[in-house]
Amino acid sequence: MKLRNLSLGVLSACIALLGACNQSNNKTTTTTTMNNSITYGQLPADSAFEKTIDGKQTHLYLLKNKNGMQAAFTNYGGRIITLLVPDSSGKMIDVSVGIGSLDGYIKSTESYYGGTIGRYGNRIAKGHFTLDGKQYSLFTNNKPNTLHGGKKGYQDVVWDAKKINDQTLELTYLSKNMEEGFPGNLHIKVTYSLTDDNAFKCEYEATTDKTTVVNLTNHAYFNLNGEGSGTILNHLVQLNAKRYTPVDSTLIPTGRLDAVKGTPFDFTKPATIGARINDNDDQLKNGKGYDHNFVLNKHDENQPVAIVKGDKTGIIMEIYTEEPGLQFYSGNFMQGKNIMKYGEKDEYRTAFAMETQHYPDSPNQPRFPSTVLKPGQTYKTQTIYKFKTR
Ligand code: BGC
Repeated sequence: MKLRNLSLGVLSACIALLGACNQSNNKTTTTTTMNNSITYGQLPADSAFEKTIDGKQTHLYLLKNKNGMQAAFTNYGGRIITLLVPDSSGKMIDVSVGIGSLDGYIKSTESYYGGTIGRYGNRIAKGHFTLDGKQYSLFTNNKPNTLHGGKKGYQDVVWDAKKINDQTLELTYLSKNMEEGFPGNLHIKVTYSLTDDNAFKCEYEATTDKTTVVNLTNHAYFNLNGEGSGTILNHLVQLNAKRYTPVDSTLIPTGRLDAVKGTPFDFTKPATIGARINDNDDQLKNGKGYDHNFVLNKHDENQPVAIVKGDKTGIIMEIYTEEPGLQFYSGNFMQGKNIMKYGEKDEYRTAFAMETQHYPDSPNQPRFPSTVLKPGQTYKTQTIYKFKTR
């Protein structure tokens, strides 16, 4: 099915549900009070992000596009903290669920809020893989597996940051040979920008001096109704994926690429996250909800791989990527243990993530697209999260 047609489907649903969508393009950010009494628009305080960690200085960085869309990042883990986008009436809504201070991120029981993830996004079975005949062992931080790079992934290191202009932030990091058990000095550049068509663009580049595996992504937690506005269960999701990679009880892919048709994983037509999440289904049990990699259909760069709509704000997020997979995580491990930016707790399923990536455990799954990077090659990929209201 063509996503362009699907996009039109969402558009008509949006029109039917919301009436005339009225997106303001020229507004500068104003504070917005939702009926849940959260005021959006207040950016985190610079001072809450100033710290020296491992001899390096952390800061808060702000980006702004010509339409008043704004984002806040920190170079601690290359994390996105705030993302203010206009809703259907032009009010600015913070759709990135994050924490208001660096200490909050360091103490958080959930490690990945908004982080740049690497060296290997998602899981590697039992923390082992073999490359060029040599076995490598990693720290198993998600027993019995390695998750998102190991004990100290890229979400917890201090990146070098350079603000290129009001709309662009460049982050670089040298992940040293055998850091977290991965071979090769990996020079990484991640460029985050806010474009004038209201997109948050993530560009990744990396080179190595030894054969290694690489799978970079961003772990933004989204709530398109706004941070602190309740669960994401009524968000409407559509994915350009006829297949997904089923997992065992430790969330490692079985190696099969199963059809989504006839299962709760069929998002080829728009469906709410909550519609089938509690179905009696073994895969949903393994993931404690949605926590699965979707195999993206062949598509061209103008076709979104995912379209998600917030039911209360009408904000639509379209995702464009060159990656072959997308991890859809429905916030199943959120436990209300951390205090987020607007003072609310990170309650169960109040945010979702859509991590564009190569499939989990690819280094151990020869039939999955390869994540191997060799000296002389350049890892280069990009993902765009585009926001609109119709
Ligand atoms: C993983 C989840 C994990 C979450 C952490 C996702 O990518 O698949 O299992 O709990 O990240 O935030």
